[in-house]
Amino acid sequence: MAFRFELQCTDTSTALGTPARRGVFHTPHGPVQTPGFMPVGTQGTVKGLTIDQVAGTGAHMILGNTYHLGLRPGHEVVKTLGGLHAMSGWEGPILTDSGGFQVFSLDGINKISEHSVIFRSHIDGALIDLTPEYSMQIQESLGSDVAMVLDHVVALPAEKDAVQDAMERSIRWAKRCLEYAGRADQAKFAIVQGGLDVELRVQCAREMAAMNFEGYAVGGLSVGEPPPEMYRITQATTPELPQQKPRYLMGVGRPIDLLESVARGIDLFDCVMPTRNGRNGYAFTDAGPIKIRNAKHKTDTSPLDPNCDCLACTRHSRGYLRHLFIVGEMLGPSLLSLHNLTYYQKVMQGAREAIEQGCFAQYMATKKQQWGIE
Ligand code: GUN
Ligand code: ZN
Repeated sequence: MAFRFELQCTDTSTALGTPARRGVFHTPHGPVQTPGFMPVGTQGTVKGLTIDQVAGTGAHMILGNTYHLGLRPGHEVVKTLGGLHAMSGWEGPILTDSGGFQVFSLDGINKISEHSVIFRSHIDGALIDLTPEYSMQIQESLGSDVAMVLDHVVALPAEKDAVQDAMERSIRWAKRCLEYAGRADQAKFAIVQGGLDVELRVQCAREMAAMNFEGYAVGGLSVGEPPPEMYRITQATTPELPQQKPRYLMGVGRPIDLLESVARGIDLFDCVMPTRNGRNGYAFTDAGPIKIRNAKHKTDTSPLDPNCDCLACTRHSRGYLRHLFIVGEMLGPSLLSLHNLTYYQKVMQGAREAIEQGCFAQYMATKKQQWGIE
């Protein structure tokens, strides 16, 4: 069997009724330790970093996007270049998103029907008819280890009818994706929708769980709702998902969101935050966030984060990093992206070790204290 999720142990120390889980997701390109964080490589590159740097942060699996790679260079070109692994040089596991979220969130006009979503390319304005089958075909050409089903995401807040309609369509589309023959070396993950409505979420999770996917994602969150709402929905959803399959919370989040969600039974995450914030001069550290452009760092010879062993922190001063940002040198965004990804991986490594020792609640409390959260 090409894919297997090995659930190694659980930790109930947070007493939320949803244990934190320690596992390994085995893929054709190697194992993914969970809880785990996937850096985002939308265009087949984690922005500003070489593949060796990405691997050096401790990342196991990275994410690519059907929407962007399907438009440019196009899935046939990626296939001709040997697939996304060969094209990018990344030899580890890759998960690709289906394009659903991008079509609905990149505020272009789109026309949704039972058959497909028709949207205009943001590159050349061409009309593209994205069916669930076509999304799977693109992901088949990309050759990712995990393909996500095409889903219908509604912007929140929305009327319950609209949320329900999109949720039910997402179930029918997931079924079509599952029926698409695809390739034996590619797993398919379902995506649970249902907005901020527990009843809809539970119904969606049950119907998805009844289909034999290799993993289950929780989508439609981290779209502007208050974090406690996201935690509430996550906590209501995970008990409805199969115990023996990995669970992935899409597009989340801040370090605290990762830990709060691990406490609610999530295994995998992706988010642009460490790289995007890094490019903007914002660094995550154990002492809370640092804005490196701030004048107070001008003559600071100390490292960005004394507890970090990344290149930015071991070889450079805050003063130098600030200088790079002020003069607009590309190394600045690159170094802060490297640092932030290293930081995220260390937070997840700590979570894995804490779960193994049955002290995840204590770990979370310590991190909250360090970050200055209640
Ligand atoms: N990325 C973040 N949220 C989502 C979602 O709900 N669906 C998809 N396909 N991708 C996402
Ligand atoms: Zn660092």
